[in-house]
Amino acid sequence: MPLLSISLCAQLPSTPGTKATIEASPAAIAGSKQDPDAVARGSVLFKEKCGGCHGMTAKGTNKAPDLVRSLLVLDDEKGLLVSPVIRNGRPAKGMPKVALSEPQIGDIVAWLHAQTFSADHRNTYLFLDALTGDAKKGEAYFNGAGGCAKCHSGSGDLKGIGAKYDAHDLQGRWLQPRAGRGGRGAAAKAPITAKVTLVGGKTVEGVLERYDDFTVSLKDASGEYHSFSRNNGIPKVEVKDPAKAHTDLLRKYTDEDIHNVTAYLSSLK
Ligand code: HEC
Ligand code: HEC
Repeated sequence: MPLLSISLCAQLPSTPGTKATIEASPAAIAGSKQDPDAVARGSVLFKEKCGGCHGMTAKGTNKAPDLVRSLLVLDDEKGLLVSPVIRNGRPAKGMPKVALSEPQIGDIVAWLHAQTFSADHRNTYLFLDALTGDAKKGEAYFNGAGGCAKCHSGSGDLKGIGAKYDAHDLQGRWLQPRAGRGGRGAAAKAPITAKVTLVGGKTVEGVLERYDDFTVSLKDASGEYHSFSRNNGIPKVEVKDPAKAHTDLLRKYTDEDIHNVTAYLSSLK
C-alpha cells in the first residue's frame, strides 16, 4: 500500500488543472522558509529534468526512488547533502549526471524542501490513522521483519515510551530519530560521530557538530572542540551514525507497517 496521506495527492493525474493540489501550497512554501520564486523555478526544472524518473511530485516511480520521503532530502538543511548527488549523479546506480547550473540546482533543492515540508505536515493525517494500527502486528514487525529488536527492546530501552510521548510525537521519533530536537549533536543518546584523517595521517575522532562540503567540526572525548576547513574532500571524514538503520528503513516501510509499529510503541506504557 502506498504511503497513505502523503501520496493521496500524488495519485491524482498530473494534469495542469490539478497542479495546485499536488504541489506544496503557498502556506507550505512560506512554512518551509524557501524563496517562493526559487520554488516556482525549481518546480518547472524538476518536472523537466527529474520528473520522468522520480515522478512529477518527487514521490518516486519504478525508475527512481521517492525523494520526498528520502531522508537525504528530509535531513538536508541547505542542500549540502542533496546538491552533490544532483551535481554528480550516481551513474553506476542509474542516477544520471544532469547538466544544470548551480543556481538551477539551488532552485530544485528549494522546491524539494517545500515538498518535504508539506509532506511532513500532512503527517497530521497519517497520525489520525496511527492509532488505527494493529499493535500485535506492530510487535511482530518490531521483532521480525523490521529488525528493530536488533537494537531495541519493548521491555528495555523503549519501555514506557508510549506514556512519554503522544502518538504523533512518537511516530516522528521512530521514523526519524535524528530530525529536529538536536538529535544530531551531543544531546543525542547515541550521537553521530566522525573520524577526521588529516593530511599528515593524524586522526581526530569525536561527536559530529557540523559537516558540509566546506567544514567539519567535532568535539572529542575530552570535550575539546575541533574545526577543519574542507577542500575537495580533504581532510577525509568518516561519519558513523548509530541510527543509520532508521534512514535505510525509511524507504522500506509500508503505511501499514508505520501505523502498526506506532500502535505497538504507543502500547508500551
Ligand atoms: C534516468 C532517471 C533519473 C533522472 C532523470 C534523475 N534521477 Fe535522481 N535518481 C535516479 C535513481 C535510479 C536513483 C537511485 C540511485 C541510488 O540507488 O543511489 C536516484 C537518486 C537520486 C537522489 C538520491 C536519493 C537518496 O535518497 O539517496 C537524489 C537527491 C536525486 N536522485 C535527485 C534527482 C534530481 C534533482 C534530478 C533532476 C535534476 C534527478 N534526480 C534526475 C534516477 C534518475
Ligand atoms: C542498528 C540499530 C537500530 C535499529 C535496527 C533500529 N533502531 Fe531505533 N534507534 C537507534 C538509535 C541509535 C537511535 C537514537 C538514539 C538516540 O541517540 O537518541 C534510535 C532511536 C529510536 C527511537 C527514538 C527513541 C527516543 O527516545 O526518542 C525509537 C522510538 C526507535 N528508535 C524505534 C525503532 C523501531 C520501531 C525500529 C524498527 C522499525 C528501530 N528503531 C530500528 C538504533 C536502531
